[in-house]
Amino acid sequence: MIVAMDSGIGGASILKEVMKCAFNNEFVYFADTKNSPYGNKTKKEIFDVVKHNVDFLLSRYKIDILILACNTATSVCAKKFRQIYDFPIIGVEPPIKVALDKGRKDVLVIATKQTIKSNLTLKRFIKRKSVKIKLLPLKKLAKLIDQNAFNLENTIPYLEKKIHRKNYDAVVLGCTHYNFVKSELKKVLPCAEIVSCEEGVAKYTKKLCANLSEKQHKVEILLSEENETIRSFLEQYLILDFSHSDSHPKTKSN
Ligand code: DGL
Repeated sequence: MIVAMDSGIGGASILKEVMKCAFNNEFVYFADTKNSPYGNKTKKEIFDVVKHNVDFLLSRYKIDILILACNTATSVCAKKFRQIYDFPIIGVEPPIKVALDKGRKDVLVIATKQTIKSNLTLKRFIKRKSVKIKLLPLKKLAKLIDQNAFNLENTIPYLEKKIHRKNYDAVVLGCTHYNFVKSELKKVLPCAEIVSCEEGVAKYTKKLCANLSEKQHKVEILLSEENETIRSFLEQYLILDFSHSDSHPKTKSN
């Protein structure tokens, strides 16, 4: 079983990309709607709720691969989880290196408050003198995205208000929820290339999947607290849209 988890819809953007390249597997998507958003919580609070969720999922499934499809949970938990659990744990990092490798020199990194505070990749790159990197915590954006999953343009006024300078040459998405507002970000930051991590994570997961035996494709969606908007969004995005998409291996023309 490949399990992907997040506080809400964000991590589904990662799981969808994974499913495109490792279709013949069984997947579970877990959204911790009861404890969202993670980003404004303390490290201890985040560690405790995410660990509780992993233990709950372990009591129900044989986990072959766990994807912490959440930058906040990765920043706080990934290292310790790799010492506690014996299955592979894949995390997500703000793809700042990707932006710099592409030659971007004036970069805005947006993420949750806790990711900005504790992510080690960001700490390492912020020291570089040859590039301008601005770290901006967006405390309300993940929740706004969950609440407006079907009306994402409602996030534009918040983005306009929080992002003061508009001429960055790249914006690095350090929260998986933000993958869902790429077109809204493009309206606010017309000159910026949007750099996100879902393709990189999917490629890496595909490599690990080579060790698993092929299974009939199946996706299960679990929420820690029922939420109609989030459930119907996830069902549409991960199940209905996916079975009609041309990335589905069975309908792919090449
Ligand atoms: N999607 C998450 C992340 O990547 C969590 C956002 C939140 O719950 O604050 O950080």
